[in-house]
Amino acid sequence: MCGIIGYTGVKKAVPILLAGLAALEYRGYDSAGIAVQENGLKVVKTKGRLSLLREKLEHATHLQHATCGIGHTRWATHGEPSDVNSHPHATAHLALVHNGIIENYAQIAAFLTERGYTFLSQTDTETAALLIDHYYKEEKEPQKAIFRALQMLRGAFAFGICFADYPDRIYAIRKDSPLIVASTEAGALIASDVPAILPHTNVYYRPEEGVLAVLEKAQVSFYSAAGKQVQQKTERLDWNVEQAQKGGFPHFMLKEIHEEPQAISRTVSAHLKDGLPYFGENFPTEVLKSCRAIHVVACGTAMHAGLIGKRIIERLCRIPVRVEIASEFRYRNPILEENDPVILLSQSGETADTLAALRHAREKGVPTLAIVNVNGSTLSREADHVLYTPAGPEIAVASTKAYSVQCALLYLLALHAGLARGQISAETVREICQKMQHEVPESVEKVLEMNDEICGCAKELTDAEHVFYIGRDVDFDLCTESSLKLKEISYIHSEAYAAGELKHGTISLITHGTPVVALSTVPALAGKMLSAMREVAARGAMLLTVTTKQIAAKEELPADRLLLLPDIDELLAPFPAICAMQLLAYHVSALKGLDVDKPRHLAKSVTVE
Ligand code: AGP
Repeated sequence: MCGIIGYTGVKKAVPILLAGLAALEYRGYDSAGIAVQENGLKVVKTKGRLSLLREKLEHATHLQHATCGIGHTRWATHGEPSDVNSHPHATAHLALVHNGIIENYAQIAAFLTERGYTFLSQTDTETAALLIDHYYKEEKEPQKAIFRALQMLRGAFAFGICFADYPDRIYAIRKDSPLIVASTEAGALIASDVPAILPHTNVYYRPEEGVLAVLEKAQVSFYSAAGKQVQQKTERLDWNVEQAQKGGFPHFMLKEIHEEPQAISRTVSAHLKDGLPYFGENFPTEVLKSCRAIHVVACGTAMHAGLIGKRIIERLCRIPVRVEIASEFRYRNPILEENDPVILLSQSGETADTLAALRHAREKGVPTLAIVNVNGSTLSREADHVLYTPAGPEIAVASTKAYSVQCALLYLLALHAGLARGQISAETVREICQKMQHEVPESVEKVLEMNDEICGCAKELTDAEHVFYIGRDVDFDLCTESSLKLKEISYIHSEAYAAGELKHGTISLITHGTPVVALSTVPALAGKMLSAMREVAARGAMLLTVTTKQIAAKEELPADRLLLLPDIDELLAPFPAICAMQLLAYHVSALKGLDVDKPRHLAKSVTVE
């Protein structure tokens, strides 16, 4: 998610803007820039880290006296990370920074092109800047120009705007994106989030949507679209910067788990058209329609999302799916038929093993599709096709929301392919998509409300040396991911087992008090899972049974602790289930007082083989 900062006052603006952007780095970004009022609007921006922007500004000594300006860190959505795509975007009359997505930017661009405008970047934001500029030339006044432009814009935005004719002012307005405004004795500020203003004040406004904030050196005022001055309430926050960056959560991991409902909803909404999955005109639907097999290649948690993808694609499309560990894939001379696509899953888009697998697949001439969370990442640039999971930046090393949105996108892909292959009706696809857009986020929200209950279960595991996760079918896949989550952040050894395998050897490991997490969300296999639960219980296991209310209502389930997941279409049960397992692992690690967000020996992106 992008970061916005703005300052107008009696102090030098550049250091304040840079410090504000640094406080917003946690939001993830790939480029940064500022615009300041110094004999007109001067813009300095660059692809890359803030340090690069600082270097450029060290050579721009003529800007050091500026006392009004805006700044931005860009998390690319439209247009790859580059200098020209970085914000601020400037026109003859203004400079603008933006957090959000202009959904109808193509129509706006056409409107502007018809009126002789041309574009320097591939961004949606530039169309917004030029549209406001267009109306500024007509209205000769910023407020009217901004409100007229907003009548045409669709999507989510928080804008910070400077007009060359008003060198001491900043204009700011929001819709569906965060924006705060603060007024201090030394001047006024705007920002995307509280950490950026905390060094100046902990009292701020959060303007209502569509209300325009006008910042001047000594005051802030707010106006409605009708031009009427309106009052806005102030808020006060007693957090330090680090607490504010985590949104008040103790760890990024917990914050990111709590972002799952919105991330899933955003992912589904971004890939629907008329209620059906839609991935753009250039998406290789024909390949999915005619291929005889699909390969999914990834590492770690991303590979585990691939296991879920296998289940749903095979179930809906009847296409064999081979899920491969990337570091194994290229060294075993995989059998790749000409038209069989290789799907590469990666949150970072920079994982060396997955990149190597991509390059191997391309050498073999098979179609490649990258599903990544980072726009402009290496994987997204080298694959034949790319789909983005708009989960927003994932800071915690342990991947949570990225996994969930990867699964959501794989569900949509399966529905799209199943429809194209005539395996599933459009009506059924619409119905499932509708549930994914609404019931899935709601069910995950309900799991989040079970936090304290799940924390209680976690207390049973904190002293364990070994934990077993058992499940069947898709629950076995979920156990595989759940086990990794526990291992990587709590350092407790754990294994996931197909429940039917216990009697073939593993059950010899179960002794009195051995913790076993039994996951049962598949109604048709509930009976089989009951047998497995009874087997381990009979041997003294400490049994944590995780199931749905619907299944629990049918049978008396053995359990030392019972977690009842919200009922949902069993096809969609993985989403609430994995959220519960992520929370369980999180609380075990937190209760053990470990560094949840940065577990020992691990990196967020493994860029070496
Ligand atoms: C996730 O919890 C792990 N930290 C790790 O397995 C990760 O999923 C793996 O390294 C792949 O990363 P990627 O999704 O960025 O490619």
